Amino acid sequence: MNQPALQHFTDVAECTPEQLLALLDLADQIAADPEAVTNSLSGRLLVNLFYEPSTRTRLSFEVAGKRLGMLVANVSATGSSVEKGETLDDTFHTIQAMAPDCVVLRHPDPGTAKHLANLAADSVHVINAGDGIAAHPSQALLDAMTLRQALGDFAGIRLVMAGDIRHSRVARSSIRLLTTLGVEEIRICGPRQFQPTAERLAELGPRVSVFEQLEDAVDGANAIMMLRIQKERISGIEIPGADEYHQRWGLRAEHLEMAGPNCVVLHPGPMNRGVEIASEVADGPRSLIRRQVRNGLYARMALLKYLMES
Ligand code: CP
Repeated sequence: MNQPALQHFTDVAECTPEQLLALLDLADQIAADPEAVTNSLSGRLLVNLFYEPSTRTRLSFEVAGKRLGMLVANVSATGSSVEKGETLDDTFHTIQAMAPDCVVLRHPDPGTAKHLANLAADSVHVINAGDGIAAHPSQALLDAMTLRQALGDFAGIRLVMAGDIRHSRVARSSIRLLTTLGVEEIRICGPRQFQPTAERLAELGPRVSVFEQLEDAVDGANAIMMLRIQKERISGIEIPGADEYHQRWGLRAEHLEMAGPNCVVLHPGPMNRGVEIASEVADGPRSLIRRQVRNGLYARMALLKYLMES
């Protein structure tokens, strides 16, 4: 593999555009012929270290590793010696003593994946599977892969990102990745208390704008990504009730009629049906939500191969 090397994958901001495009191209290649890479990382060890709940991310890293022939071990905070007071550093060093090739970390505190990357031996690759509100870079990869498959070149994508943007690590990583790759426009939409701060907005650049009304934001869009309210990361902010939220900010079939005729719908999951998205949209013909999950497997297979072979 003749590509720029990457030791860890903790934030898309630490990758070059060439590395990100190489990862996306490799993910597409694997999606086209997954059996071509079966067992290509045979005998290597992947450890999933999860301090927060997960269905998609943990399972897809596990399946990705196993499809590539890796040995896969799972450690969750619940049921491990974390419950007896062991620190993150001691848990990581315990795992490192068993010579893993790759450690995938999910943690509620921002910056923990980078912290472990700094502690890691040269032979160990650290992947961030979500750290607080900071980053969820493998989710951003699979979202970009899904958007490019559906809409082609990034330069033609007009994306609405709606919901709780302020507390979403998916939003942070996806906005960073998509603007790096030249997306035409990202329209952020949601209640004021869920919008990015003015300071943060200024950092995001001229292709990112804020809309107050979902009806206005979807006009002419060719992709809509809905995000759930990150209740576990919110304190001291008023959260609207589910019915009120759905009426004002929930994506419904009528919004798709206002958007472009080929507008597609994404959601990283887990969804709260009847809150940020109606079932008729989530399960409808424009929904790419299941394809995102499938692409998550290929994007993570690509990531494991890229880290370990480049
Ligand atoms: N999208 C996502 O991170 O889902 P999980 O929390 O189920 O992993």
